[in-house]
Amino acid sequence: MSQDVTRIVVFDTTLRDGEQAPGFSMDVAAKLQMARALDALGVDIIEAGFPIASPADSEGTRQVAAAVTRPVIAALARCRPQDIEEAGRALEPAKRRRIHTFLATSDLHLERKLRITREACLDAIVSAVRLARQYTDDVEFSAEDATRSDRDFLCRVVEAAIREGATTINLPDTVGYTVPDEIREFFSEIRRRVPNADKAIFSTHCHDDLGLAVANSIAACEGGVRQIECTINGIGERAGNASLEEIVMALRVRPDRFPFDTGIVSEHLFEASQLLSRLTDEPVQSNKAIVGRNAFAHEAGIHQDGMLKDARTYEIMRPKDVGQSAEQLILGRHSGRHAVARRAEQLGLALTPDEIAEVYHAVITMGEHRKSIGDNDLRRMVERVRTGHTTPA
Ligand code: KIV
Ligand code: ZN
Repeated sequence: MSQDVTRIVVFDTTLRDGEQAPGFSMDVAAKLQMARALDALGVDIIEAGFPIASPADSEGTRQVAAAVTRPVIAALARCRPQDIEEAGRALEPAKRRRIHTFLATSDLHLERKLRITREACLDAIVSAVRLARQYTDDVEFSAEDATRSDRDFLCRVVEAAIREGATTINLPDTVGYTVPDEIREFFSEIRRRVPNADKAIFSTHCHDDLGLAVANSIAACEGGVRQIECTINGIGERAGNASLEEIVMALRVRPDRFPFDTGIVSEHLFEASQLLSRLTDEPVQSNKAIVGRNAFAHEAGIHQDGMLKDARTYEIMRPKDVGQSAEQLILGRHSGRHAVARRAEQLGLALTPDEIAEVYHAVITMGEHRKSIGDNDLRRMVERVRTGHTTPA
């Protein structure tokens, strides 16, 4: 990494924020399998669960903490003694552990949800961070709904949490409300105004309600954030969290704009995405950036022709860099002759110009009725053309 590239810590919350979303729950065995994949991917921190939420959550956290030793293992806890004690217990086997304690700081949450005053909120945070520090030196405090919180109050909260020993301060955009310019200024302002801000790492945790979670996370780095919280496939509450794979590849593909990088082994991204999809029985959207089935697929003839001449015409990253297979030229109604000929050649069927014309015609005709055409379809078409059968296969 060159000197002017700043390393961003990747805090993966697939097993906590992601897992708590409808349809994405995982049993202990599934969590363990996913945690091993996250380890291989190179994430810095795995948030393994919210131990007070259920015995299964606590057991899942404990087993991940025992089995996965390279990354820091984090457990979530509200600013309540029982939560922090349970998180501390579940993290006992971990080689490196973090307690992640949180409390909402916006007036809306304080008045309408928690029904407590700002002063009571501040007291609870101070006590929670102090207690968490008795279990580990690595304590993260999150101010839930931070981006909609009063700035003066938020500065007091952050200063107090750092004073009590929080080493990471996470300011979540809990409801996916902010926009890139705003969150960049937000972090710059908080870091400027909090006198002990240099004693902690600032972290961003963006939800995707407006589809801006990835853009907001990167803008937050421009505002001084050094940890991003994200999930595989962007799973998480409601519209999800910022997608890990999109952040990682945006930073890799555009270093000219973003002087940041992560320790992620991008070649494992597709594998991790597929594993999560299998474990949760939830498909990945086919046009999902980076890991979707169509992310590197080309069907339009003009695109296929460009791809065959120079892949850079229609691809800004190589499929193999994210673990996807190369040159996915889909045969269908929109395909071009070049792609048909290339696919046949790859199947060991070198075609003459006349055969190409006939097979191409057969492909287009079949494509009228079918979404895509497989290798066996193509083999049959070639055979029919060669044996003089003119009707489409
Ligand atoms: O979205 C959120 O605010 C959270 C916190 C618990 C970190 O998930
Ligand atoms: Zn969240």
